[in-house]
Amino acid sequence: MIRTFHVCKSYGARNALDDVSLHIKKGDFVIINGPSGAGKTTLLKLLYLGERATKGQILIDGANLQRINSKRLSYLRRKIGVVFQDFKLINTQTVFQNIALPLEVTGHDKKYIRKKVSHVLRMVGLENRINSYPLYLSGGEQQRIAIARAVVNDPMILLADEPTGNLDARSSRIVLNLLRQLHTRGTTVVVATHDKRPISKPNDRVIFLDKGRIKKD
Ligand SMILES: Nc1ncnc2c1ncn2[C@@H]1O[C@H](COP(=O)(O)OP(=O)(O)OP(=O)(O)O)[C@@H](O)[C@H]1O
Ligand SMILES: [Mg+2]
Repeated sequence: MIRTFHVCKSYGARNALDDVSLHIKKGDFVIINGPSGAGKTTLLKLLYLGERATKGQILIDGANLQRINSKRLSYLRRKIGVVFQDFKLINTQTVFQNIALPLEVTGHDKKYIRKKVSHVLRMVGLENRINSYPLYLSGGEQQRIAIARAVVNDPMILLADEPTGNLDARSSRIVLNLLRQLHTRGTTVVVATHDKRPISKPNDRVIFLDKGRIKKD
């Protein structure tokens, strides 16, 4: 599903990623772990096509990101759901409008959008918040709305950057269970966390990054 070959990413003189090669298979649940500044967010940025690698190759679903045409690129973008650490919800729009946005972009009709948004809101347990504005929700609720938005297009890959970073233990558990549930349904899930003891399960793959390099896999 995802392959990187000797990927480097530099910002000026700083190497955020250094010779990263990995293979994430369809249906994997992968935790990218490592201290602050290790390059976790940078790696996710490259995978969701937010930035380009300085060196090396990245293949996603068979497409080489270095020489992909713009049509295939926008198709791929729609197949990758992203949960940002700071949620990136639009505060002037309701929960419904926030989640509906990716569906409107892909040109679905109103009835389908209503149905889909209700469905993902039920999944995250927040259907009663459909008309609320993000700033009236708790951090954990905003995080779950961000997850709902990331999966409303049925992505094949879900990338989550510190999805429990700002949450208390109970909200963290709810969010992690949600990610597990999506994984069980066949989504390839990649979670970045600086948590020293990430809540992993025996079948998870934990990739440890430090100073831009893979230290353990
Ligand atoms: N846009 C940028 N410009 C310059 N340097 C950057 C930029 N983005 C990241 N870096 C640098 O790249 C390195 C890796 O950053 P990154 O955000 O990927 O780390 P991280 O592992 O996600 O850390 P954290 O756990 O704090 O989120 C850091 O040294 C950071 O300062
Ligand atoms: Mg980060």
